[in-house]
Amino acid sequence: MQDTALAARPLWKRLPWLDYSGKVSPLKATVFVALFIPGLVTLYRYEADMLGGRPITEVIHVMGLWGIRLLAVALAMTPFRQVFRQPKVALIRRMIGVAAFCYLAIHFSFYVVDEKYVLLTVASEIVHRFYLTIGFSALLIMTALAVTSTDGMMKRLRRRWQTLHRLVYLAAIIGTVHYFIQVKLNVFEPTWFAGVIAWLLLYRVMAHWLGIPRASSFVALLSLSIAVGILTAVGEYAYYAIFTGVRAGRVWQANFTLAAGLRPGWIAMAVGLTFTVLATLWNLSEKWRMPRSDPSGRLAPARRAARSS
Ligand code: HEM
Repeated sequence: MQDTALAARPLWKRLPWLDYSGKVSPLKATVFVALFIPGLVTLYRYEADMLGGRPITEVIHVMGLWGIRLLAVALAMTPFRQVFRQPKVALIRRMIGVAAFCYLAIHFSFYVVDEKYVLLTVASEIVHRFYLTIGFSALLIMTALAVTSTDGMMKRLRRRWQTLHRLVYLAAIIGTVHYFIQVKLNVFEPTWFAGVIAWLLLYRVMAHWLGIPRASSFVALLSLSIAVGILTAVGEYAYYAIFTGVRAGRVWQANFTLAAGLRPGWIAMAVGLTFTVLATLWNLSEKWRMPRSDPSGRLAPARRAARSS
């Protein structure tokens, strides 16, 4: 059924802002335009000489950050679709994933520019610097996923497509480690970001074991968010204890006072809790958003569709 639909779609009906029936999808069109914004803003800042003394390095940083942020947004689409019961979100997941790849490809290209296009140096650095070796491995995975993201490849690879595309989890983990290592001293941002990635991956494990309805419950999401907050704080403590000369006990204690501001564990937990509260409110408001049932007591079609999605 899906195969026939994929095979039948002519090229003009596959434009990024169209849905499967070939009509303009406001959701897809808006996301498509929004995905260009970070790139266009960076281009403008580059042209206007607003990127500081080392503009190429700044472009590498900004593109790397947007690449990994969009990768996280793409990973967030599945929990969002399942918990908020929004099947339409599936329409934009692939587009966001491909955009993440494009930003990362630019990130890499500017690294090559920074190395004065000497590909031998680039290759040697990738081989000898661990953070570049793993960054490059993650980019290779993202390239494979982007190349096989077309309808045609989906059809050709069938079940293997899903197996292949599960590698996105590995790319997200390796990409986060690359982010973490290159920061060198202040690991504040990559630590809470790693917590968010952990939430997104552990949600999937939870949905696999408990089933989507139970994994979407307030208690399950709340427990996951608290667990991820603690895990992030423990990870931060372990990093300082193992890899630095800093007294890790003081880093741990900073979690219980606001003197050093909100620590990464609290931020990762807050992101999870925000999702939990919004999802709970959204699902509770279902009865006001949709007609409850017809006089025979059966669920109204819109409500039934939301339940089964
Ligand atoms: C999926 C793959 C990748 C991801 C997700 C990624 C992500 C990132 C992120 C988030 C940063 C930090 C930006 C900041 O702190 O402002 C970064 C920095 C960097 N990345 Fe990547 N990156 C990837 C692949 C690569 C590759 C293939 C290379 C080059 C071979 C590379 C070279 C660099 C360099 C040179 C820096 C800056 C390091 C510094 O300033 O000392 N990255 N990357």
